[in-house]
Amino acid sequence: ADILPFYGKYQQGIVTPQQDFFHFAAFDIIAKKRSDVRALFEKWTDAAARITQGQPVGDESNNQHLPPTDTGEAIGLTASKLTITFGVGPTLFTKDGADRFGLASKRPAPLADLPAFSADELQAEWCGGDIGVQVCANDPQVAFHAIRNLARIARGSAVIRWSQAGFQRTERAAAKPGTARNLMGFKDGTGNPDVNDDAAMNDVVWVQPSEGPAWMTNGSYMIVRRIRMRIEEWDRSTLQDQEATFGRARISGAPLGGTDEFEKLDLDKKDASGKPLIPVDSHVALAHGDGKVRILRRSYSYTNGIDAKTGQLDTGLFFVCFNRDPRKQFVPMQQRLAKNDRLNEYIVHVGSAVFACLPGASAGGFLGQELF
Ligand code: HEM
Repeated sequence: ADILPFYGKYQQGIVTPQQDFFHFAAFDIIAKKRSDVRALFEKWTDAAARITQGQPVGDESNNQHLPPTDTGEAIGLTASKLTITFGVGPTLFTKDGADRFGLASKRPAPLADLPAFSADELQAEWCGGDIGVQVCANDPQVAFHAIRNLARIARGSAVIRWSQAGFQRTERAAAKPGTARNLMGFKDGTGNPDVNDDAAMNDVVWVQPSEGPAWMTNGSYMIVRRIRMRIEEWDRSTLQDQEATFGRARISGAPLGGTDEFEKLDLDKKDASGKPLIPVDSHVALAHGDGKVRILRRSYSYTNGIDAKTGQLDTGLFFVCFNRDPRKQFVPMQQRLAKNDRLNEYIVHVGSAVFACLPGASAGGFLGQELF
């Protein structure tokens, strides 16, 4: 039950119900030839297919004079619902105007560089990457083992550019199953489309055959944003202000004026004085918009010691979302939020990257086979 299939039409870790722990790494390719990139993806696919099934990354030679094949910290641990999701970034296709691997003509139009958003305070050390790898598991050591071994296998072909570990509450700690809370204390994920609704996933997440390019059919675009929370400010704000910031009640997660977490958002509901119950500049009202354009969020909390400059905790939300076309989904949504969201008083976007997550591989094949 703790093993999820690796091979299939889609990559795992996208419509997979969210696991407890997370580790993201962005890699830069240092190899010079396309055939080396192809070889890396062959090796990575094989390794991922093994470790997600609870196996070591490769067969051991047991030669006393060689380092072991697998680094060993997952020996005796179950697969813990480990999933590994691979995506390729804009710079794999073109970097500083150069067509590095003869792939420039294959770059999909939706894999456009993200525009600058008005509230951005991006730092280069948390941005970009030729390849993005999302690892999720119900155990933090299993997740780290995956990233570490993928980096080790890549030696000579790719290097880690930046990485971030993340978490949410464990299933074991939750008295009842339900939506996890973010570090602002609010339920996060309520308004997501249903991952079991195939029609919704085809509409929101999966690149359709008609859209092109062919190598992206059944893939999806992943956006990651490292969003620092100003928790000191947040913790000093009143309950009323906190609830008005999100447009939802803190304890129940229900839309303001409602009672149930999952009731429909009704942005037209007004109080006796004619004021909208859900403020027009609340996070939920702006993210929802007219409700027609959606994304699938799959974010985790992070914490990273303290910010040396301010002495405050470096902590927040590692926002992850999947969508069919960021130009039509994530970008307009984030433009609305960056401009008017009440939440901006308490957050700052410091990291950003976009990746084209490849379609799934079938046994015997490898991820990116049709691209490289
Ligand atoms: C809803 C938190 C950033 C898109 C929500 C909700 C919370 C929340 C508590 C209400 C419950 C839910 O539906 O999940 C946060 C925090 C953020 C953040 C703390 C930053 C630190 C973003 C960003 C985007 C986004 C960057 C996309 C550009 C959405 C969407 C909804 C939502 C689409 C659902 C709206 C609906 O009900 O239709 N967020 N969010 N959020 N958020 Fe965020």
